[in-house]
Amino acid sequence: MGEVTASAPGKCILTGEHSVVYGLPALAVAIDMRAKATVKPYEKGKALIQAKQFNKKICLPLTADRNIIVESDLQPIYTSIINTLKLLRIKDGVEVLIDSSIPDASGLGSSAAVAVATVKAVSEFFGIHLKENEISSLSFESEKIVHGSPSGIDNTVSVYGGGILFRKGRIIKVKIPGNIPLIIGDTLKKRNTGGMVSRVRENYLKYTGIFKPILTAIGRISLQAKKFLEAADLSKLGELLNINQALLESLGVSTIELEKLVYAAREAGAYGAKLTGAGGGGCIVALAPSDISQNIASKISEAGGRAYITQITDIGVRIE
Ligand code: PMV
Repeated sequence: MGEVTASAPGKCILTGEHSVVYGLPALAVAIDMRAKATVKPYEKGKALIQAKQFNKKICLPLTADRNIIVESDLQPIYTSIINTLKLLRIKDGVEVLIDSSIPDASGLGSSAAVAVATVKAVSEFFGIHLKENEISSLSFESEKIVHGSPSGIDNTVSVYGGGILFRKGRIIKVKIPGNIPLIIGDTLKKRNTGGMVSRVRENYLKYTGIFKPILTAIGRISLQAKKFLEAADLSKLGELLNINQALLESLGVSTIELEKLVYAAREAGAYGAKLTGAGGGGCIVALAPSDISQNIASKISEAGGRAYITQITDIGVRIE
């Protein structure tokens, strides 16, 4: 047996993070940063996992309970391997090498992309072509172990690519009109998605009557944002990003570091900017005319962030 490599994209939530956990729609796109998983044969009953970006290499048993908890960085890889082999009823061992260009724990769907690429590479290595929805559900199992009770938006966008209006149990493909640069600003402050989701839940239980309309308004923003994105009305889409940011702040998930990058991008001429992902650290996304993307990236760097100019990609999970 030779080796098989699969890759899957990271994602950027344009609108609707957190409210999506409560069953409301969110708008997300796949971005051209990818996680790659390469699978090779290994000793029966064992998995050798190597994650380049964490500089880690570990050998784990494949006979263990599927919910065994390993180091958090390696969890999506291990759980994805175990679940895929279990589904395929395969007892052989595998070596899995992960190489990802998606910053981890930053709100760009790195763990989901790693899980999706791993499921695809492991199944194809044994000659099985899983359907997209099967890859997504297997990856979702890993996401649940990593994040607690995620909505499933990250694994869905990583599998299908492109733009998606996501609601629990329902996905609508969004047409992306041409090249739209997204400027990402990373605060370089890692955070934990599960912890941020729990924080919102606590506030929701404390102030249900106030939080419900805020979450509903965010859901409405996503429905409207889909229309503006499809019509390539980036100026109006930017305004919605700004409104969404204010509402996320009211949910308690923004931080001074995020706000600094958001304001740096807006002052440099962005149509709009907001945090993306769970908040508490991680990244912002800014929408701007292509000719000033570079300038916005510089202002984000001056404000203490690391900037990336990314493009929306239609390419979901695939074999390399
Ligand atoms: O920070 P990320 O990329 O894990 O994004 C999470 C988005 C949330 O809506 C906060 C949680 C979820 O599961 O949808």
